[in-house]
Order: sequence, then C-alpha cells, then structure tokens
Amino acid sequence: MEKIVIQGGVPLTGEVQVSGAKNSSLPLLFATLLADGVSEICNVPNLRDISTAVKLLRELGADVSHHGDCIRVDARRIQSVEASYDLVKTMRASVLVLGPLLARCGHARVSLPGGCAIGARPINLHLKGFEALGARIQLDHGYVEATADRLRGAKIYLDMPTVGGTENLLMAAALAEGVTVLENAAREPEIVQLAEALNSMGAKIEGAGTAIIRIQGVERLQPLNCSVIPDRIEAGTFMIAAAITAGDLLVRGAVEEHQEALISKLVDAGVLIRPEADGLRVVGPEKLQPVDIRTSVFPGFPTDMQAQFMALMTKADGTSRISETVFENRFMHVCELQRMGADIQIDGHSAIIRGCTPLTGAPVMATDLRASASLILAALAAENTTEVSRIYHLDRGYEKIEKKLAALGARIWREQE
Ligand code: EPZ
Repeated sequence: MEKIVIQGGVPLTGEVQVSGAKNSSLPLLFATLLADGVSEICNVPNLRDISTAVKLLRELGADVSHHGDCIRVDARRIQSVEASYDLVKTMRASVLVLGPLLARCGHARVSLPGGCAIGARPINLHLKGFEALGARIQLDHGYVEATADRLRGAKIYLDMPTVGGTENLLMAAALAEGVTVLENAAREPEIVQLAEALNSMGAKIEGAGTAIIRIQGVERLQPLNCSVIPDRIEAGTFMIAAAITAGDLLVRGAVEEHQEALISKLVDAGVLIRPEADGLRVVGPEKLQPVDIRTSVFPGFPTDMQAQFMALMTKADGTSRISETVFENRFMHVCELQRMGADIQIDGHSAIIRGCTPLTGAPVMATDLRASASLILAALAAENTTEVSRIYHLDRGYEKIEKKLAALGARIWREQE
C-alpha cells in the first residue's frame, strides 16, 4: 500500500492543467457499446476507475486500445452481457452498461452495486425507468437480470434527478422505438456531454442540461468520436488548494459555467477568482471568511466538493455550517480532519466548523475519493508533516495529484506504507 506525505505551509503558485472529467469519461466509454463499430474518446484521464471501465469493456468482448490520452473501443463483437460482482463492487459506475446492453443486445446481467462508504446508493430509479421502457427486470442472487425484445419509448418521471439514472436511461432510450421523455432529469455538464456525444452518433436528443429531456429513438447509432470535458471537481479541488494556502494559481481548463455555485461560495469566503487565459485565476486571501453551504444537485453546490470545502472552512475566521443533502453518510472525512486539530461538530446532516484552529500534521486515513482530497488540502495548510494512507481511494479520481501539486511548490511525495 502507498501513502502520500505532505509538509504543509507553502503557498501554491503557478499554473496547473485540469485533466479530462472522470464522471464524463465513464458514461462515454460505455456509450461506445451502442455502436457496432470503432469509437475513439480523447482527453481521458489516467485513473484507476478508467482502467476498471476498460477491463469491463474487454470482458464484454470489446477490443480496447490506448493511444496517448485517447481510448479506442471496437464494439463490433459483444460476446457477454454480464458485469460481475467483482467489477461492480470495484466501481459502481459499471451499472452504466445496463442501458447500452439492453438497447444493443436486449439483455444485460449486472451485479447490484451494493452500498458504499458514502451511502446506500441504490439503483431503483434506473430499474424503474428500464421497466417503463418495456424491459423485464428480475433480481437474482444479487444480480439484475434485464431483458427486452425492443425497448419502447415512454414518459419517465425520476423521483430524484439521479445522474447515473439519467445517463443509463438516455443511452437505453436512444435506440428505443418511439419517443421517451425524462422528467426531473439530472442537469450536470456530464449529462450534456453524453447527450451531445449520442447525438453525434445519430441519436435525436433535446433538452439535455434541463430537467426535461426528449429522446426520439433511432434504428442504429454510428461510432463515437469525442474529447472529454475538463473535470470540474478536479478543477474545484485545485481552486481550493490555492485558497487554503493563500496561493495564486491559474487553473487551466476550469470552465466557469460548470462551477458557478462553487465560485460564488469561494468569492463569499474572500477568494479572488477571475477568468484568465483558458482557465480561472484563483488568489487565496490572507484571511478567509466563514461561509455556509448546502449541497444539492446541479446547478447547486456539488456534493463532490463538500469535503474539500470543509477543509477550507477549518481555516476561516469564524463558524460555518455545511449541510449534505445528497448522500446520507458523506462526513467520513470529519474525524480525520479532527485528528489534524479541526474543530468540527456533526449535527445530523450538517457539520458545524469552528475555524481558525491551527491545523497540525498527523497520520490520517482516506476513506473515500473526495474525503482523501480534503485530507490532502488540509495537509497543504497544516503545520509540519501529514501522512495520508489508503490513497488508492485518491487514485480513483485524481491523475498524478502529488506531481501536479509538487509542480506548484507543495512539499508532497508518495511513499510505500
Ligand atoms: C454520480 O453518482 C457521480 N459518479 C458521483 O461522484 C456524484 O457524487 C453523484 O453523481 C451526485 O452528483 C459518477 O458520475 C460516476 P446519483 P451517481 O444517482 O450517479 C440516490 C465522485 O466522487 N439514488 O445522482 O451514483 C443515491 O442514493 C462520485 O466522483 C437513489 O435513491 O449519483 C444518492 O443519494 C461520488 N436511487 C442520490 O440519489 C437511484 O436509483 C444521488 O445519486 C439512484 C440514485
């Protein structure tokens, strides 16, 4: 096992390039299953989750090859429709093969993902949508067995704007007979990119990015060629790295309209943010103001930035409240931040952070992807040395983060445990 060691206290300066978005790369890779041809997706980040997705595509029979930051997928021969428990428990986004396999092959056998560190994360809304499209769904020994002769368009109301559910149903409806309308659909930028990608394959999708998406099914789709949008969560993480170290960074690739909520809250905290070159210039103040946040679905404050923002608020000059409304157990980073001297109290779905407690380095443990990012950020601002263990969580969603931070002046390196 590896750990990351950080000697904090250095203001970060310079510029950093944001990688392609993990949460856009994954649905795009699975969308290639919809076309019996050779697709290519570029600007794909080099992450553990991407390797897992490539492994799954190969297990389904696709021929996958890497060409720099491009991944080529030849999906002409699908020989299996099964996503095993081992794969799905490694990466729950594997359930996104349900829609493409149902639409392309009329059959899919995918392990239920089970819970994860941050919450139960069921897929009931995905399955309800597939049934509305005419699929037969059976649960059998922890697997979803889905079959359909030909999916038929339907009007589907999503009880909550599920990102994965919207993606799965977009991909299924693209090849269904007739019109599908998704109501209360997720509006994230990753949804917009997926819809644009499907339309470039010949799909007829309108309204992506709004709560109502209309899909006119077509007979077949052409292979995909596209480039992944920048990762707004990685960009946000680097913006907070500048803020928490009173640094001055140019975050290349950061897209302002993908992170209005985060920018608004950082500005309230006293951070200077302005569009510059092909990114955002971020200058952290000497004194940070406390700011309350409440996570919600896009365009609200992203739950994937909650842990990172909490690390920042431990440095603020006052008390702030952070409410997590999307996942039921996404405060695993709190006890680790407390080990570093943070004064945080949990009150149900909220955390009360009393700032201005100096953070001190300590051995801490990553528990999930974004929690590990918050520990790295706290360590960058802490006095003396922090060691973050179980960083395989971090490697799922951040490409070479310690190299990118070291290039900005951070004293950070990776070691064997
Ligand atoms: C996506 O997960 C992201 N993952 C998550 O990012 C992100 O936190 C989440 O969206 C919310 O923005 C990927 O895109 C690969 P949801 P997803 O379906 O699709 C409940 C990261 O750090 N729900 O919008 O699983 C669910 O339990 C990861 O990169 C149901 O109840 O999120 C959760 O409480 C973490 N039934 C809420 O909705 C369902 O059928 C949001 O889930 C589906 C979801």
